[in-house]
Parts: sequence; structure tokens; C-alpha cells
Amino acid sequence: MMSQQSNYPDTIKKQFKELFNQQPLLVRSPGRVNLIGEHTDYNMGFVLPAAINKAIYLGIHKREDETICLVSLDLDDTYRTDLQNITSSGKLWPDYILGVIQQFQMAGAKFDSGFNVIFGGDIPTGAGLSSSAALECSAGFAINELYGFGFEKLDLVKMGQAAENQFVGVNCGIMDQFASVFGREKHLIRLDCRSLDYTYIPFNTEEIEIVLFDSKVKHSLASSAYNDRRAQCEKGVKLIQAGFPEVKSLRDATEEMLLNFVKPADEETYKRCHFIVSEIDRLLAGCEDLKKDDFVSFGKRMFETHAGLSDLYEVSCLELDHLVNLVKDNPDVLGSRMMGGGFGGCTINLVKKHAVTDLIKHVSENYKKLTGKDTEVIIAQIKAGTSLI
Ligand code: GLA
Repeated sequence: MMSQQSNYPDTIKKQFKELFNQQPLLVRSPGRVNLIGEHTDYNMGFVLPAAINKAIYLGIHKREDETICLVSLDLDDTYRTDLQNITSSGKLWPDYILGVIQQFQMAGAKFDSGFNVIFGGDIPTGAGLSSSAALECSAGFAINELYGFGFEKLDLVKMGQAAENQFVGVNCGIMDQFASVFGREKHLIRLDCRSLDYTYIPFNTEEIEIVLFDSKVKHSLASSAYNDRRAQCEKGVKLIQAGFPEVKSLRDATEEMLLNFVKPADEETYKRCHFIVSEIDRLLAGCEDLKKDDFVSFGKRMFETHAGLSDLYEVSCLELDHLVNLVKDNPDVLGSRMMGGGFGGCTINLVKKHAVTDLIKHVSENYKKLTGKDTEVIIAQIKAGTSLI
């Protein structure tokens, strides 16, 4: 993988010239962090993500024929197919782009030619930073621009999510694609995943850094477990509907409903649903903390989220638990928790700036002792969402 993100646009241009003798349209689409509100998006709750300084860079140009030619710089791999034959590639990475092409076709968009794509990026894959959503959104944005299809930003978000659901087969919610496209520099996005209303919350504190510790446990095997969790949430809703038919998602559910209808029927489903209902409340309370700049209270809620994800929702793993335990008694760490779908990937930590260097040393050394693995550290900065370069 290339080390300097700024090199990607230049490299892509150079490769386009060499391979296709063309000058591409260039798009940047970022990965994301999520401060609080995990697994709430597909339960129609709220999330609090932000786009970051790690991104996919994608170049695109039309061809004379109907071929789709996709080049991954980082994997040093090429995949070719035909516009009229968009089917699963048999390897994962092209599917994120092919799934998006299929969404355009299903929406009635008429491609007047095939195209070439070259892309790469510095979002670590399988780290819970949404490299796949960033790839989907970069492809959607680029195709929309190149062919002048005129879809809105929200359409592109939905197409990215639908590609992941229908083509890749992960039943993800809308958070990652939304954050990638709608990110704003130095702001969090408070997204209501039911109405899709959103507000930007300033996050421009000088005293706090967002530090990510990558467990280096890849979460690639997690998609079936992710889909299972989603199915359990839906099962909980069905059980509640026996008494409250108007409840459409866990967003509408109360703890009392869970105790009356879900717990007696299925303890495990209850644990999952209990986490979600409390996580939605936690996020709302966390947003009140942010209004008062009370990062101490906000951080405590992040630790609570981690405990819930680990014990109730059961999407953490030993390594992620170690990373949280290693920082939890440090007064300069305001909050820490696993982030994203789970089963690996990163923890997100709110850390007082002056303490960051010592903390990194402490965590790196002890994580190695505990797991034999090297953690990779990312200081996340909050940046703008998908755009042309
Ligand atoms: C993954 C999914 C998101 C969301 C998170 C968990 O990142 O893609 O839709 O469900 O997990 O919050």
C-alpha cells in the first residue's frame, strides 16, 4: 500500500496516461469514524459519524466500447467485464463497483459506453473504517459526474448501500455511505436513520485527539455474524408486534416492551435488543453532552457502549477488549470503545492531546505483550465528504 495519500491522484493520472492514454476525472471519497451509536442505523436509530483523512481516490474515463475495466493499484489487480453483463466477479473488490453500476442500471440510467477506472487509497481494509463504503461512494459519484446522470447525493448514498446489500450480500445500514458522502470538515453528523434528517455538530476542539488503535484482527469473516445480529433485531421487533403492532423497528421499542415480549421468549434476542434500545438513548444523551462540551460525560458513555457491544451484542473480540482495557484507567483517555461492525478492526479513543504520545507507547507495548500483534495507530482528522479533486 502506498504511504502518502497525496500521491494517489498523481499516480492514478500517470497510470491512466500509460494504460489508456487518457486524462481521468478524479474523485476522493473518505472513510469514517463513528463516535457513538453502533448497530443503531439498521434499527432506524441515530448515529454520530464523521468523514476522516483516509480515503479512496478513484479516476474514471469513458471508453469507445462497452467494456468496464477496473484497476486496483493497491492490490495490483485488474478486472474486466462488459456493461451488459454485470454479475458477481468471484473476487470481492470489483463487486463494490459492479454493484454500484447495477444500481445505476436499475434506476434507469443509460450508459452510452463502458469506462476505465483506476483506484487506490489509504483506508486500511477490514479495520472498521468503511473502506468498502468509500469505494462504493467514489464509484457512484464518479459515474454520476462522468455520464451527467444527475442523481442527488442522497441517491448515491442509497445506491452504495443497496450495492452492498444486494450485490455484496452484507445487510449493512446507511451510516457508512452517508458519512462518506455527507462528511463536513471539523463536524460530526447526527443522522436520524429513520427520517434521514441530519445536523452537523461542530467538533473542533483543540485539546482532544481522536486516536484509533487498529487491533489488526481483520473482520472479513464477520459479514454473516453481522447479518445474524440484524436478523435478531428483526426477530425482537416481531415479538413486540404481538402486543404493539405499530412498532416498526427497535427505534419505536421501549425497555418495558422488551421485558414483556422479548425476554420471556428468547433471552439472547433480548440481550441484543436491550443493547440497541439503550444505545439509541445513549447517543441522544451523548449529543446533549456535546452541546455542553462535556467530553468527560460523553467519554463515559463510549465506555458503556463498549461494554454493551462486548457483553450484550457480542460483536467484540479479545483483542478489542484488550485495547479498551489498556486505556480505561487512564484519566487522559476520556472514552474508548470498539468501532463499526465489530469482530476486529479499530477502537476509537478520545484522548487529551498532551497525553497522546505516551499513550501510544503504552498501548503499543502492552498490546504486543498481550496478543503478539502490532497495533497500528491512526490519528483521525475530520474532513469533508466525497468530492471531485
Ligand atoms: C458497519 C455497517 C454500518 C453499521 C456499523 C455498525 O459499519 O456498514 O451500517 O451498521 O457496522 O454500527
